[in-house]
Formats: sequence, structure tokens, C-alpha cells
Amino acid sequence: MAGGKARLMTRSTPTQDTGTAYGRGLQTHDPEITEVGPGTPCGELMRRYWHPVELSSRLGRRPREIRVLGEDLILFRDLCGRPGLITPRCIHRGAPMSFAKVEEAGIRCPYHGWLFDTRGRCLDQPCEVDKPAFRERCRQPWYPVEERYGLVFAYLGPPEKKPVLPRWAPFEDLPPTEKIVPDAASFSVGGDETEELIPWNWLQDWENTMDPFHVVILHTAFSGPQFNPDMAVMPHVEWEYTPLGMQYSAHRRFADGQEMDRITHVMFPSLRSVPNIQLSHGIAESMGWLVPVDDASHRTFHITRMPLDFEGVPLVTAPVLEKKWSEMTEDERWIAPGDWEIQKGQGSITLHSEERLASSDTGVVMLRRQLREQIRLVRDGGDPIGVHFDPEAPPYWIGAGNFYRDRAAIGG
Ligand code: FES
Ligand SMILES: [Fe+2]
Repeated sequence: MAGGKARLMTRSTPTQDTGTAYGRGLQTHDPEITEVGPGTPCGELMRRYWHPVELSSRLGRRPREIRVLGEDLILFRDLCGRPGLITPRCIHRGAPMSFAKVEEAGIRCPYHGWLFDTRGRCLDQPCEVDKPAFRERCRQPWYPVEERYGLVFAYLGPPEKKPVLPRWAPFEDLPPTEKIVPDAASFSVGGDETEELIPWNWLQDWENTMDPFHVVILHTAFSGPQFNPDMAVMPHVEWEYTPLGMQYSAHRRFADGQEMDRITHVMFPSLRSVPNIQLSHGIAESMGWLVPVDDASHRTFHITRMPLDFEGVPLVTAPVLEKKWSEMTEDERWIAPGDWEIQKGQGSITLHSEERLASSDTGVVMLRRQLREQIRLVRDGGDPIGVHFDPEAPPYWIGAGNFYRDRAAIGG
């Protein structure tokens, strides 16, 4: 590499500068744990799970173009209410199915009117004399979809490995005073309901969840307080693996003597449950999915337990500098940067070769190690963590929350 030669040529003497930027080696990301396209190792791991791809409420008469795991697809709902997910070029002669119209039985191509059901089967070819044997060979490639919690989930993996779409205990059997509110409000910044593509690799966002120390600095001392001011207390943190991924427990002793454990979970392949950032006592009200759109962008979907009369989108962050993030000037964002500025600034895929990981990055290191293990497990023919094939299995439990040590047992 050029760097080696350059270092030889600039061998230091007491009068020369050291540590300059000149002659650095190639700066790269680690493709194994970040790239998600078809056939990539991480993409194959991702394809062993269900991913939310849209809010159920958004499926109207017009098909929606979506992109997930590097694949362009068309999501629709037929007039009987069944969701479907197909490839975007009609298998006849490639017309864009984004211009198709939905009917009771499926979706009809605008060019010559071929009609496909939600499993891609061709039901009608109006310009042909019907030959069922030919028609049955004309199958539009499709993926399975299911709906739950107000989200449309898709499975893009091998059919024989399709797991059961999981249920999550905190969102089952709600009391009559609560409901589940789904949202796709992209990224939690400064009290906004932004609905944008998040323009960087999904892993930067996911591993940030296992980094409790940036909360003390970025969100409190440096820019804040963007969350509860008590986050300024430096926590004692312990990370550990769980049956679905990993968690950290951040223990804080506050000035008034109260002690609290803040427990945050991540679940494979890219889920998280983060406790209330105002530090209210009890289990986390929400969980979220970070869904890779491609290697350089992702979307987030959340579900949140809210009172029955709640309307709108549950926003987990408050405005900063008394302004919504979308209303802040560049100077104001410089004064109070948040997760958006930092993660975007790491680059579309961060440069792993340039990092200097330290002890406070233990969660990041553990998560990457677990991710790598799961990628290799799938590559070697195994089933990854957290998938199951038993429709009768109980819902998964998540133990995230803020737990004050002097309070009574947590409520549900
Ligand atoms: S291209 Fe779709 S029916 Fe001809
Ligand atoms: Fe953050």
C-alpha cells in the first residue's frame, strides 16, 4: 500500500512532525456486516427475518413503490383487502407495475392487462386465447407479506426457511385503555415527524442503540439536554447477550440518592426497544425496526402503546433550542447536533478501518461480533437467533425499561 512506502519516506526525526494525515492507507468499511443486497452474507442473514415495509394504513388503491434490502418492489392491496408484494417489471414485457391498478382478484398491468394475484399467479390475459397451461407458467415473482400491529411485514428469504412472524408480549393483550400506534416517522430528531429516507447504513443506527455513553455527552453535556437532564450522570454500564440479541443496563445514582437501572435491548436482525427518554418508571412503551433500504440508507418503523384517545405520531424527542429540527438553521444544528448530524456525518457507510474502539464501545464490539457470528451461522446452513417455526409459540418478551430501585414492582 502507498501508506507503507510513505511512512518509510517520512521516517521521523526529533524535528519532524509526526501523526500527520499524509500517506494514510485505504479507508474502508467492513462489507460483511453492512451490505445487505441479494446474495451478500449480511443480506442472506437479513432475508431470514420478517421486516416491516410500510404502514398498513398507506395501502390504498394506488400501488406503492418500495425499496428494501436493495430490491425494488411494488406493494399493493387488492380490493378484497389482501396485501401483495411483487417485482416492479411485468413479466410479460416489462411494463412498470407502479402504474398497475388493483381489482378484487389482484393487480392488473397497464400495458396488456395481465392480472396477477397476491402470490403472483396470472389470472387473466385479455389479449390471448386463454391457455391455462401457458398462463400458469406466467408467474410474477412475489414475496410473502403479513400484517400485524398496523404494519405490513415482508419476508424476502428462502421459502423453506420462512419463520413465523413474531408476536411481542408488550404489544399483546393491551388493557382496554390503550392502543398500539404504528409510525414510520423515520428518525427521532427534535420533535419532528420527518418521514425521510435515512441516508446512511442501517448498522450505524442499530449499534448506536448499544452506546449509552453518547447519551451523556452528545445528548446532554454537548448539545443538551436533549433528553432528561439527569442523563448527565455518568452511568455504570453492563452489557450482556440475550436469547434475541443483547442488552445494556445503565445504572445511575442521582443527586437525591435515587438509583435507576436503564435497560435497553436490541433484537436481531435490526430491532430495538429503547426506554422512555424522560426516564419515567416502567417498561419501554415502544419498539422499533431499522429496515435497510439498501447499503446506504434505511427506514425506521415503530410501534408504541398509547392511551386510547391519543392522536398523531408519538414523538420520542423534544424540540431542541425550542425549535423543531426542520426549522433549525445550520448554525443552530451546529450548536446542538443530535443523532442525525452525527450518524449522517459518519458517512453513508462508516469507515471501520479508521476507528479506534475503546472500552466504552464494548456494546458496539459485542453487537458486531454477534452479527458476524449470525452471518456465518446462516452461511454455514444454520438458523439464526430469534427465528422460530412454531405458530403456537408464546410471544417474545422484551425487558427494556427504566427501573427505579426504590419503586414497587413494575407495571405492565
Ligand atoms: S407488459 Fe404487462 S401485460 Fe404486457
Ligand atoms: Fe442518540
